Amino acid sequence: MSAIFLKRFLQRPFQVASIIPSSRTLIRRVAGKMDFTQPRVIVEYGPGGGCHTREIVQRMHQDSQVILFELDAELAQHLEDQFRGDRRITILNTDAAHLPRELLKRGIPHCDYVVSGIPFSILEPEKKRELLRSTYDCLAPHDSAAFIIYQYTNELVAHCRHFPRVESEYCLRNIPPSFVTKFYKTANGSAHGKNGHGKNGGHRH
Ligand SMILES: C[S@@+](CC[C@H](N)C(=O)[O-])C[C@H]1O[C@@H](n2cnc3c(N)ncnc32)[C@H](O)[C@@H]1O
Repeated sequence: MSAIFLKRFLQRPFQVASIIPSSRTLIRRVAGKMDFTQPRVIVEYGPGGGCHTREIVQRMHQDSQVILFELDAELAQHLEDQFRGDRRITILNTDAAHLPRELLKRGIPHCDYVVSGIPFSILEPEKKRELLRSTYDCLAPHDSAAFIIYQYTNELVAHCRHFPRVESEYCLRNIPPSFVTKFYKTANGSAHGKNGHGKNGGHRH
C-alpha cells in the first residue's frame, strides 16, 4: 500500500505532499468526527491509497454513498482495484474543484461530509478560495454536515471564515503530526459519534 504512495510522491511531490499515508491514529480521529448512524453522502478529496476511505466504508451506514476525487491517475486506478464491485463508491480521477458539477450530474443536491487530505497550502489563493467556497455550498444545510481536514499546519482556518463553527485538535501520532479540523456547515453544528469531540473544543468565528 505504501509502495505505490511513495512512488507517486517521488513522481509528483507537491501534489501528493506526503511520503507515507496517514497513521491509524489519525485515520480514527478523522472518522470519529462523523456520525455514521444514518445514511450519508460522503465526499473525499485526495484519498491517495484509500486509508481513510477504508475506515469510512467500514464504519458507514450501509445505505451511504462515497464519492472520491483523486487527481493522480495511478492512485485512482489503485482505488478502482480496491473498491471494484462496491456500488456505493464512486471514484473520480479528477480535481476536487469539480465537486459541484459531479454532484449535479448525479442528481445529488448536497453531501453530508467532505473529508480532505489534499495539500491546500500549495494551491493558488484564488483556487483555494473557490474550492473552500464550493465545498461550503455543497454541504447539506443541517447541523451534522461538515468539512473535515487533516493538515500539518492549521493555516486553512484563516481561509474558512464562511464556516460558522470550527473545532480543531492536534494529532501527534502521525508523521508529521497534523491538525484535524472540523468546519461545521451551521453555527449549531455539534460533535457526535464515537471520539467526536475536539480536544480544544469549538469556537465560532
Ligand atoms: C497527502 S496525500 C493524502 C493521501 C491519503 N488521504 C492519506 O491520508 O494518506 C494527498 C492526496 O491528494 C491528491 N490531490 C492533490 N490535489 C488534489 C486535487 N486538487 N483534487 C484531488 N486530489 C488531489 C494527491 O494526488 C494525493 O493522493
